Order: sequence, then structure tokens, then C-alpha cells
Amino acid sequence: MLIHQLITQEFPLDENIFYLNHAAVSPWPLRTANAVKEFAEENTRVGARNYLAWQKKEIALRGQLQRLINAPSIDDIALLKNTSEALSVVAEGVNWQPGDNIVSSNEEFPSNRFPWLAQAKKGVEFREVDIATESPEQAVIDACDQNTRLITISSVQFGTGRRVDLEMIGEFCSSNNILFCVDAIQSLGALPFDVQSVNADFVMADAHKWMLGPEGIALFYSKAATRNLLELHQFGWHMVIDIGNYDVKDWQATDTAQRFECGSPNMLGVHAFAASLSLIEEVGMKDISKTIINNVSYLIDNLRKIKGLSFISSVEKSQRSGIVTFNIEGKNMADTHSKLIKNNVICAHRSGGIRFSPHFYTGQNRIDESLNILLSII
Ligand SMILES: Cc1ncc(COP(=O)(O)O)c(C=O)c1O
Repeated sequence: MLIHQLITQEFPLDENIFYLNHAAVSPWPLRTANAVKEFAEENTRVGARNYLAWQKKEIALRGQLQRLINAPSIDDIALLKNTSEALSVVAEGVNWQPGDNIVSSNEEFPSNRFPWLAQAKKGVEFREVDIATESPEQAVIDACDQNTRLITISSVQFGTGRRVDLEMIGEFCSSNNILFCVDAIQSLGALPFDVQSVNADFVMADAHKWMLGPEGIALFYSKAATRNLLELHQFGWHMVIDIGNYDVKDWQATDTAQRFECGSPNMLGVHAFAASLSLIEEVGMKDISKTIINNVSYLIDNLRKIKGLSFISSVEKSQRSGIVTFNIEGKNMADTHSKLIKNNVICAHRSGGIRFSPHFYTGQNRIDESLNILLSII
């Protein structure tokens, strides 16, 4: 099917909606809505009679996620509730020693701050490095010392949209025996990601942003070699080697990433997420990322023409992502945001400015219309 036909079919958004908010919560593709309807329908007719087929769907989803990040094995993929939960699993799992430090950036979303700050109770320092520099990667590396146990960073920052060179940080981590954790929710589904080149130990991302899935189901990747360094804090029937043997009195956690999944899977989410990822795979990450970067570059070029506008995002080409955030001199950005929302330009108020985040299916005419609305209200 031709790409524009596919887009028209899969994104029947209301004509009057200008959706520039994929960095928050994305609309579902039609196939995702259909998968949910079919799953609901099946449940009402035959209950869980086809549970084996559901499990196959769950395995297929792990395979889709494995391919998306080029993980070595399907066993490296766990399905958790959300990004925040996965970050907490890592932060609470490391066997910290007093005096250890964790290095991060000063642009992180709260979910990539609070779990690490909470380790202060164990005498662990959390260092938040200013990355508004020419080389954010070098700034992070320079903040490390012999007591650094872990670096945690977002692949793309939620407010500024700043993209970092993960490979550079990953290489530094692996040659210095430092764990590497990547909050990838603002890039998976928007930009290519190869966990093996990045050399990350842990990667997490919920489905509901660039992967076009539902809220409440997340990828949690853990590298086989370092997975067992994480102490477990949640326990149940689903995480054991002898899964399905409910009579056994003792238990052993499986070595796979499933050791982090204590109980029943989110089967509704599994069906929806698998449908969303099937669209991402059909279009292909190369084309998706190219179109998103083109859309953001188009936005940057046109926003630049607005008098008094300054970018909160780095517009440096190597740091561009699906996010562009800006401020307009003399205008109240909270008010501007409310007016945009009233006019159905769906966007966010972040980092003191307006955040636009178009996806690959966002046509240039929709961007033009959104810019016209912006011009008419400022
Ligand atoms: C960078 C980043 N990390 C984490 C989160 C929170 O994700 P979740 O709701 O899946 O825990 C967000 C949400 O906006 C985010 O932008």
C-alpha cells in the first residue's frame, strides 16, 4: 500500500485536530483500536478460552521489541507497567555502596530523577550535569570519577528534545565498568535505536508516545551479563523457572528478563501494543525517522521567522529529535498554550515554552495550519 494511503487509513483524526503532541500521548492507529475492540469482543464471547493464542501474541510482541532495539535475544525483553516502574526496578536493584555516585543530566523527566535521588538514603550521590553544551556527552563523561557506578540519561530529553550520542557514553561506560541506563521513551518509535551499538545495560520505554501504543505497557530491556546484578523486589508466579507449577513449594527466578515480571501480563495492552508496532515495522524506522526529522526541521525553519521567538530546544542538527520547544518574547507561554489547545492545536507547555512534537504521519499542511493558528493568537 502506498504510504499516503496507509496514513489516511490508519490515522482518521478529526479534520479540526492538529496533533503535535506525540512526546506526550499519541493517538492510536486504527489497527490498534481494532485490536482492542476484537480483544474485548473475544473476552465477552469466550472469555480466556484462547489463552494460548494470547501467549503467542505476547511472545510475538517481545520479538517486535527485540527487533526494534536490535536486542540479542527475546529473553532480554520484559514487559512492565511503564517507564517509571522500570527505572525504579534498576535504581532499587543495584547493590549500592555508600559513596557511590550516579551521573545524569539536568534535563531529565522526574521519573529519571526521583528513583536515583531516593538512593541518598544509602549514601549515594546523584549528579545532574548541565548538558546545554556543544558536547552533552563529554559533559556527562567529565562528571564521572572512580566512584561512579551508573550513568542514566534520556536518549532524547522530554523538554528540550535534545538528543545525545548514546554510543559515545556507552563506550565510556563499558571501558570504565560503569552501568548504563537509557530512558528511551522519547526516541523509540521515532529514531533508530541499536542497543548493541549503544552498549546499554538497561533500556526502558512505555508504548504511549512515539511507538503509538496504549499507556500502561512498557519495554524493559536488560543485558544478560548485568541483569543479575539487580536485586529483585517484586515476587510472584510469573517470574519463576517452573512457571505454571503452582504446587511447588520453593522457587527460583528465571534468568531471563521475565524475572522482573511478577504476575499476570497486561494482555489487553499486549494486543494493542503489538498492533501499533506492526505499523511501525510496516513503515520502517528509517523512513519514520527521516520524516520526523524533516517535519521538525520544517517547523524550526518556519518558527524562526516569528518575531521574538527563541528556541529552548537545541536546533543543532546532530541534537535534533521529534521535539521542538520555543518561547516568544513578551508572551505568556501558559496563555499561548491554552489558546493553542482551544484552537485544537494539541501540544504541550514544557520547560517554560511551547513543545511541538509531530510524528511521521503529520502532513506538512497540518504543520502549516498549526503555524497559522499560532500566528493568529500571539
Ligand atoms: C523522558 C521521560 N521519561 C519517563 C516518562 C514517564 O513515562 P511513564 O509514564 O511511562 O512512566 C516520560 C513521560 O513524559 C518522559 O518524557
